[in-house]
Amino acid sequence: MAGRHLKELFKAFQTHDELTFRRVATEIIEEEESKHHNALARDLRRLLVAGGSPVDTGSTVLIPSPPKDREGEWDLGEVREPSRMLDDLILDPHLVADLDSLVNEVQQWPALDSAGIPRRQRLLLEGPPGCGKTTAAEALAHELGRPFLLVRLDAVVSSYLGETASNLRRILDYADQAPFVVLFDEFDALGRSRDDHAEHGEMKRVVTAFLQMTDRYNGPSLLLAATNHSGLLDHALWRRFDEVLTFRKPTVHEFRRLLRLRLRTTAYRGLDIDRYASKLQGLPHAAAEKLVSDARREAILRGGSRVEARDFEAALPSITRRPW
Ligand SMILES: Nc1ncnc2c1ncn2[C@@H]1O[C@H](COP(=O)(O)OP(=O)(O)O)[C@@H](O)[C@H]1O
Ligand SMILES: [Mg+2]
Repeated sequence: MAGRHLKELFKAFQTHDELTFRRVATEIIEEEESKHHNALARDLRRLLVAGGSPVDTGSTVLIPSPPKDREGEWDLGEVREPSRMLDDLILDPHLVADLDSLVNEVQQWPALDSAGIPRRQRLLLEGPPGCGKTTAAEALAHELGRPFLLVRLDAVVSSYLGETASNLRRILDYADQAPFVVLFDEFDALGRSRDDHAEHGEMKRVVTAFLQMTDRYNGPSLLLAATNHSGLLDHALWRRFDEVLTFRKPTVHEFRRLLRLRLRTTAYRGLDIDRYASKLQGLPHAAAEKLVSDARREAILRGGSRVEARDFEAALPSITRRPW
């Protein structure tokens, strides 16, 4: 461990600066990982995650609040302790492999840095709504033991000329203070002004500004942007991300696995999982999740102790009818 790290740790302790503490601690862990001191790194990471929430600060820990917009009216982001895990998600095996390798890569940034190999640090998550983009971003933060910074794009996007770009600058400066997983969710909203309808030229301009600002970003954070509408922008722009991860709607087989996963902690009897999985075909993962929770509600409301076929049958029509 470098003397610089030790000094920074002591200083963070003295000033009750938990964000700095976590950043330095993460750097130390990543350094140990790059030296293949895996057992030590794993123990340290466990201690850091078990150390509790960086958000629920109690009285002793000082965490800088996320920045506000120019008028000081809106928070531009929100720091959350991630609770979802990649195991909560049923995803295409290729995507699972990509996400696992991303976790492994981020943990080894120091090794890439010393070899002069560029990090993949700015990624686009694209695909239809309800297929796990937001959840996967949070799960990545959880797997990496990092706080999750959710950018509030509705606050970032300003109708004042040039203000959207300064808001982006503010949030990126904030993300430089600690190793966050940052999510620019509903990223396509960047091109919409508060007053206007989406306008292609404007969207392209703001997304280009974002890409320029983050072009050679090699701060401590992992930057993720998610969109339901990658078709709105031309491919030349998407290609400038270090990686594009595509989320797809589930297959019937994946629906079966997902229904079983969501029923794992529930008592049930006589359910025809195959039938419900086929009924859900063409819908996003979120539909299966809602089907299970609606059926559980039905069971409770009729005073049943288990979820039964009639609960699923009662819940199904509204799931398949509603727009997703
Ligand atoms: N691949 C998935 N596997 C399991 N559950 C999922 C998946 N995708 C979405 N969900 C569930 O659906 C809900 C919405 O997912 P979300 O991550 O917000 O989707 P998106 O950001 O792609 O619109 C979440 O509660 C999540 O648990
Ligand atoms: Mg989302």
